[in-house]
Amino acid sequence: MSKINAVITGVGGYVPDYVLTNEELSNMMDTSDEWITTRVGIKERRILKDKELGTSFMASKAVEDLLAKSGANPEEIDLVICATTTPDYIFPSCAAMVTQNVGIKNAVAFDIQAACAGFIVGLTTATGLIESGRFKKILVIGAEKMSSITNYEDRATAPLFGDAAGAVLVEPTTEEVGIIDSILFTDGVGITHLNLKAGGSVHPASHETVDKRMHYIYQEGQFVFKHAVSDMSDATVRILERNHLTKDDIAWLIPHQANLRIIDAVAQRVGLEYDKVIVNINRYGNTSAASIPLCMWESEKKFKKGDNIILTAFGAGFTWGAVYLKWGYNKE
Ligand code: UT7
Repeated sequence: MSKINAVITGVGGYVPDYVLTNEELSNMMDTSDEWITTRVGIKERRILKDKELGTSFMASKAVEDLLAKSGANPEEIDLVICATTTPDYIFPSCAAMVTQNVGIKNAVAFDIQAACAGFIVGLTTATGLIESGRFKKILVIGAEKMSSITNYEDRATAPLFGDAAGAVLVEPTTEEVGIIDSILFTDGVGITHLNLKAGGSVHPASHETVDKRMHYIYQEGQFVFKHAVSDMSDATVRILERNHLTKDDIAWLIPHQANLRIIDAVAQRVGLEYDKVIVNINRYGNTSAASIPLCMWESEKKFKKGDNIILTAFGAGFTWGAVYLKWGYNKE
């Protein structure tokens, strides 16, 4: 019997309409288009303005887009995994909200919290479950309303983040395409350098946590930057070596979009030509777990069946890694 591979068979995405530009941010705080562009590579980001709407709204839109394009029947989906750090509620899961919103009735649904690396962790989880034969149609979503945890009085973090959602459908195949390998790590060295302190079981929400602004992203940028560059580069190099690939075998690198300087450094370390690197940080900023599926959504038409693609991400924990896949279809 031939081996069952897990392959991505469809991609969907959603970004909210509101565009928050560097100019608008410069009117809100002591920053400038010049600083943000040269230090991070972001020009604008999308913000979900409607206070009544949360991450599941965007995740559901991305899934609806995917289902409409692929013609997949929501009743055949048997698992929904949502990678998010900004679920609508602590519980139930964002994934559960999505099933309700889009009419998925025969699936189990849960969230994965692996910060900016959430999508590659979710995709790796789905791959194992497809390869085992136990699940047949898995939705892996990366969705974030980062604006809900961003302090718009802190110039060190406010320009960085944006809201978005992306989703992929993962199915079994006996063809030699799909997710071939994953390499994932966590190192608690990052815990104190990148976190959100309140709202969990150590510091439940209180007047004090609100007064001390503990419900927002805390990041020591330079420390995180150094680890992001070396860890994403190492993971990418290791997955290439482990699969006997050289840079010339790679059609596309899809890196997590946290900083254009990080993306450049990783591409340089791997020796990859820049036109093989998918970049959209200039238009969306850092959308955490949504950034890789958002890149896939925008670039789907460029990918050809059999293309070797490397995904790499890094985030809080620290949690990071790389995924090697062979793209499974052509899209006109
Ligand atoms: O998503 C996964 C995890 N996250 C990441 O991978 C992000 C990693 N870190 C970074 O991308 C970068 O460290 C940042 C973009 C966050 C910051 O860039 P940086 O080049 O490391 O800047 P810095 O924090 O070292 O600050 C340099 C200077 C400081 O001024 P002084 O002390 O040199 O006078 C800051 O106060 O830039 C100042 N600064 C700003 N100036 C204008 C910091 N933020 C701003 C700002 N506008 N928005």
